Amino acid sequence: MPRIAYVNGRYVQHADACVHIEDRGYQFADGVYEVCEVARGYIVDAKRHLDRLARSLSELQMAWPMHRSTLEIVMAELVRRNGVKNGLVYLQVTRGVASRDFLFPADTKPSLVITAKKIAPAINAKKAESGIKVITVPENRWDRVDIKTVGLLPNVLAKEKAKAAGAQEAWFVDEAGNVKEGGSSNAWIVTKDGVLVTRPAEHGILRGITRTTLFEVASELGLKIEERGFSVAEAKAAREAFISSATTIAMPVVAIDGAPVANGHPGSVVLSLREAFFDIAEKRLA
Ligand code: PDD
Repeated sequence: MPRIAYVNGRYVQHADACVHIEDRGYQFADGVYEVCEVARGYIVDAKRHLDRLARSLSELQMAWPMHRSTLEIVMAELVRRNGVKNGLVYLQVTRGVASRDFLFPADTKPSLVITAKKIAPAINAKKAESGIKVITVPENRWDRVDIKTVGLLPNVLAKEKAKAAGAQEAWFVDEAGNVKEGGSSNAWIVTKDGVLVTRPAEHGILRGITRTTLFEVASELGLKIEERGFSVAEAKAAREAFISSATTIAMPVVAIDGAPVANGHPGSVVLSLREAFFDIAEKRLA
């Protein structure tokens, strides 16, 4: 089955899909995006992703590329056309194509690109069995990371640094020594008392959709959550650590900066959250 992408009103072969060289996403990273998990052919938490897209667009004074309900239909149709049962949908909206000028162009239509990708569930399941390693890096991003923009160069460099250190994610750390979030995920720990701790999402991190859904999952499991900052030292001494994102769901962290978290194996709390996420968030789709 050939891969199909959606570009500005047309379904096209993925290999032939392209945008104009003067697209503002290309020239200024003047765009926003969403990544949604697909499970059993359905988009998980589509409403929350589109609510966050609405916020990102509004914060940047960007218009919707099409009516929200039409966008939902196009996303579902792209999933269908690509035969994706499990995988991801990526959607990107930029301010559009205009002659290069820093100021917002007048009367320019936003550009919309959507892709869908199959991912075998076994790949992430295997990762969760062994857990991932993270490194910590000083925060060097702008202070509007609550907007999901395509300006991700610091994230790219941080994750590349993690890879060079034999790790899979980098945690940005603020000046006070507190963990903010990962290059493409939110950061969590579990205390000795079994309480989940994650940084408040009002400022300084992206409010992850998986993070929000994990609040519901934790409550169904009777787990307590504290929204507060935690230091790198507290994370290293924690009972468990993990990350969350649409691409990883809840993924155990077994080492931080080369030091094992607890016994260096995935913790039971994160694995139960992961299991319950599939039961609660994904099964409600059926
Ligand atoms: N990234 N923080 C950052 C900086 C992220 O880029 C992401 C997601 C998250 C988690 O958000 P969510 O639970 O909604 O996926 C937190 C996506 C997966 C990406 O860029 O590929």
